[in-house]
Amino acid sequence: MYVCLCKGITDTQIKEAIENGACSLEDLSDSLGVAQGCGGCAGFAENILRRQLDDPIDSRLYYQVA
Ligand code: FES
Repeated sequence: MYVCLCKGITDTQIKEAIENGACSLEDLSDSLGVAQGCGGCAGFAENILRRQLDDPIDSRLYYQVA
């Protein structure tokens, strides 16, 4: 899904950048160009960042067995 329409950046790209060490909106901006246009994506990108840093393993992919 596109997060940044100005730069054509997807949530998958943002998650990959976080896995590769991005830990702030500034890091995402430096590595991908997030929020360098209109800035409308900044809040959404920060939400992805917070969720990914709080729960780095996508819990939708796993289920508890015990
Ligand atoms: S939507 Fe990302 S800078 Fe405009």
